[in-house]
Amino acid sequence: MPDQPGDRTGRSADLPLLTSHNTARSALTCRYRCGDACSHDAPNRSLNTYFGDVVQRALSRRGALKGGAVLALAAGGATLAAAPAGAVAPSGGRPPRGLDFEVVAPNTADAVTVPDGYAQQVVIRWGDPLLAGAPRFDARKQSAKAQARQFGYNADYMALLDAPRRGHQLLVVNHEYTNEQIMFFGYDPANPTREQVEIAWAAHGLTVLVVRGDRHSGKLWPVVGDALNRRVTATTPFRFTGPAAGSALLRTSADPTGRTVLGTLNNCGGGITPWGTVLSGEENFNQYFANAAAVTDPVAKARLARYGLPTGASERKWERFDPRFDIGKEPNEPNRHGWVVEIDPYDPTSTPRKRTALGRFKHEAAEPRLTRDGRVALYMGDDERFDYLYKYVSTKAFKKGTSRAAREHNLTLLDEGTLYVAKFTGDSPAAEIDGTGQLPEDGAFDGGGEWIPLATGNKSHVAGMTAEEVYVFTRLAADKAGATKMDRPEDVEPHPYTGRVYVALTNNRDRGAAGKAGPDEANPRTGNKHGHILELDEHRGDAASKSFRWRLMLVCGDPDDPSTYFAGFDKDKVSPISCPDNVAFDEHGNLWIATDGAALGFHDGLFAVPVKGSERGHVKQFLTMPKGAECCGPIITEDRVLIAPQHPGETDGATAEKPGSVWPDGPGSIPRPSVVTVWKEKRR
Ligand code: FEO
Ligand code: CA
Ligand code: CA
Ligand code: CA
Repeated sequence: MPDQPGDRTGRSADLPLLTSHNTARSALTCRYRCGDACSHDAPNRSLNTYFGDVVQRALSRRGALKGGAVLALAAGGATLAAAPAGAVAPSGGRPPRGLDFEVVAPNTADAVTVPDGYAQQVVIRWGDPLLAGAPRFDARKQSAKAQARQFGYNADYMALLDAPRRGHQLLVVNHEYTNEQIMFFGYDPANPTREQVEIAWAAHGLTVLVVRGDRHSGKLWPVVGDALNRRVTATTPFRFTGPAAGSALLRTSADPTGRTVLGTLNNCGGGITPWGTVLSGEENFNQYFANAAAVTDPVAKARLARYGLPTGASERKWERFDPRFDIGKEPNEPNRHGWVVEIDPYDPTSTPRKRTALGRFKHEAAEPRLTRDGRVALYMGDDERFDYLYKYVSTKAFKKGTSRAAREHNLTLLDEGTLYVAKFTGDSPAAEIDGTGQLPEDGAFDGGGEWIPLATGNKSHVAGMTAEEVYVFTRLAADKAGATKMDRPEDVEPHPYTGRVYVALTNNRDRGAAGKAGPDEANPRTGNKHGHILELDEHRGDAASKSFRWRLMLVCGDPDDPSTYFAGFDKDKVSPISCPDNVAFDEHGNLWIATDGAALGFHDGLFAVPVKGSERGHVKQFLTMPKGAECCGPIITEDRVLIAPQHPGETDGATAEKPGSVWPDGPGSIPRPSVVTVWKEKRR
């Protein structure tokens, strides 16, 4: 049971505020997940403009609603009338389809707490056997050989696809990072052993796993040893494709061609393509590298700094065991990370690709949508304070069908296209955006925006940069293009029926700080602690458009906090929500939001909210996380909700000997990041 006060809506008059270090996260999370990104200055020191600097364009709000009134999904997709922003209606009637559950109150229980009438089961834990011959997990007898055949650590994005066999599905999972302090007994951060380092390499990457469902419940079991099961790790060969493949900027002594790279690191948000492959974004790749200080050339130095590469030793000391992690020895190796990777989960022998046309940054999401003429658009966030939102539009169109020719064609779509970055403009006078979160006089944080092209194929659109430089140093290209500095753009997801794009902006404690960009209409709160959700309507509803309208749907936090906004819905009836991170839609078009770093004194969780109709903005908490965990991977189907509690037990001072959580195995165990299925029990 929850051990914190709060009624069924989770409201509390006295929400405690966390004040430890720079964020609500534990110090361990900061150290191992992001390489203490929050403790460092945000690496975007560019002088490109933000709203406070520009003369506001008087955009017609009426025009915006007209533009967003009907958005068509290309390729025969459904159409839906879009709800005007701020639609308000009394609640109390039947809950919207798909959201008929009792709200879970915020709490600090070391458990996954689900609504009354729902059940749960752990599908697979870190270390559970996956490939044939894998040993059972033994926390005190871990080995790299075993880990390479077992489920990896810290599941993040998850994708569920049809499997060739009836009643089976393919689950593809990212393994974002390792936390050696709570994985290994007797771990010495100053002197990791080779075996520990190689276990960590094998615990990163991706898993492809066949799962079998139960016909009578939402239970799900791994099919251990299935021929499609696969582990991709920090040492698996990848091929570079697209315009920067083979570039001198990607060449190293181990790979003089610049076309092959070992491993994928820090895989966070992702997406599923219409041709059945899975995309995965390499996020905080910088933390695995060491000794940027060895580089003295000012241009190279500036590039390393813009990506936050460590000047001294790395946290995990991998550079002692493989010189490619030492920038002094292999200055181009960091350029080979920070990409979107594409994996074909149906072919366990396929070589996964790093798609250079999608640019290099701290990638989040890569959720595709088709343009009106059938090309592929991908929306991508760069998750760092004051970094940007991107879009890619392919040059060629998607081919329907499962023929070999169609598949081979579709596998080239992410290699040639245009990479854009977003510039947002508010429609209210700058003086009305005062940093408090108070709505401007027109009643909405909203406005217009444009997609600024950075490169198309081998042609650069950025003065002073070649196309290869644009792709490899995308952040610097976007700085020059005058992109809008955002509050940590994380997951980005197009609505499955309307095509409207939803952007989770997690937080930004530095917004408005001395020397930093001030509040603007798209990022309206100074010291933004709780984040917000932005809706974006492409011009004419076409994902290929060069302009868009946008509005904030949610400005998160304690609903008693006047700076919060829940699409105009009655704030007495909503759940508190902080730090939106991963987003997903259910089959009814409701938005589900997983949080990371909840700064209201309660654990992270999963929330659902209708995006249209009279219940628009009615945020309801569906479940809560164990101690120290963020909520990842949400997949919402009619049968079950799949989540991945990531980094349970990652609390200040925790070690394997002194675990911060004993989820999911109970007293006497170390925490194990896992995948969980949740379903509604049948009434007897
Ligand atoms: Fe891995 Fe941006 O979270
Ligand atoms: Ca406005
Ligand atoms: Ca995340
Ligand atoms: Ca998502």
